[in-house]
Amino acid sequence: MALPLHAFLAPRIVSFDANQHLVAWERHALLFGEKVLDIVEQSAIPQEAIVIRENDCVVTPSLVDAHTHLAWAGSRHDEYEIRMRGGDYEEIARAGGGIVSTQRSIASTSESELEHLLRSRLRTAATLGTGAVEIKSGYGLLPEEELKQLRAIHAVANDPALPKVFPTYLALHSIPKGWTGSRNEYIENVLTDTLPRVAQEKLARFVDAYVDRNAFSVEEARLVCRRAMDLGLAVRLHVGQFSDIGGAELGAELGAASCDHLEVLGERGAEAMARGGVTAGLLPTAAFTLQQAPPPIALLRKHGVPFFVASDANPGTAPTESLPLAMAFAVRSYGLTPEEALRGATTAAMRSLAGTSERHGLSPGSAADFTVWDLPHENAIVQPWGVAKARSVYRDGKAIFTRP
Ligand code: NIG
Ligand code: FE
Repeated sequence: MALPLHAFLAPRIVSFDANQHLVAWERHALLFGEKVLDIVEQSAIPQEAIVIRENDCVVTPSLVDAHTHLAWAGSRHDEYEIRMRGGDYEEIARAGGGIVSTQRSIASTSESELEHLLRSRLRTAATLGTGAVEIKSGYGLLPEEELKQLRAIHAVANDPALPKVFPTYLALHSIPKGWTGSRNEYIENVLTDTLPRVAQEKLARFVDAYVDRNAFSVEEARLVCRRAMDLGLAVRLHVGQFSDIGGAELGAELGAASCDHLEVLGERGAEAMARGGVTAGLLPTAAFTLQQAPPPIALLRKHGVPFFVASDANPGTAPTESLPLAMAFAVRSYGLTPEEALRGATTAAMRSLAGTSERHGLSPGSAADFTVWDLPHENAIVQPWGVAKARSVYRDGKAIFTRP
């Protein structure tokens, strides 16, 4: 049954138009069923509408977190302590920590336990204002364990009471501990076994690869991504977190939906991304944890590369589901304006996940996906660190979170 007509009356409603410019309405009403119908003056609310009136709030499109590793298990508090004492990421990885430490935790967690963890983290994300989340595998690493992670993600993906989920098979994250063959045999196995099974079971929309020194080469990532594209998956990449080895150029060559991290990116990479229509994924929480210098934002702006802001939620470098925190870092450390951060965490993020046909905005016909904030203005979203300020989050016109 279609959702009856609702009218949401708020002091301030903001969204982004087709050109991604911010538009604001003062003391208007948002009319919606499952989809947005219109934004009208409060005197023009149709009689049959169910009226919801909220004071002292701002309404925005719901937050979209386009880069997360939410399907983790265990805890990496021990290595966090080492890191705070000055140990660096690659050193921790060499000592058996990092990604393969979470691999061990995944191995000892059942699919249903993983699903339970995911549900709880998605609920936490919703309390922080998030209405849609991309979730990567990449911690199972061994073939069956990757499939287990993806099946757990799949199990939560169709729950209308949680944020929308976009699953990604992170095919090349690390060579697994316990893999008895060679590196090439691992990649061969991804190509001929895991990837076809992921595609056949429709477990992922995207494939991802970690292109960096001490991770995977451009050639290795190209092989896997091309095969994934043949099987109908789109591409997202981890690029330039520690070194520029040509990942951005690869992203452009493949028409990737996004290249993320980019702390180390040269002019050629930025140019290539602009030419290839690739969105940059900014992950300032990870850069904060690792105390890295920001990506070359001026270069992205100069070449007109669009960008989104995401949490990178993972147990090692971004132990939080908070997209507002990532937005705050994006403004404070990366120099984004609050408006750029909001666009980056809403419409720009959804574009990289669903393409340009899916407008994540409050315009007629778009899904009624919005967040009501206990704040007077959208620019305040980046200020209240450490406290959740979402009052409610709507998905397809229904509240998936309401602050008690
Ligand atoms: O995006 N850089 C690679 N992957 C993750 C971190 C993974 C981890 O440390 O568990 C990232 O930051
Ligand atoms: Fe990541």
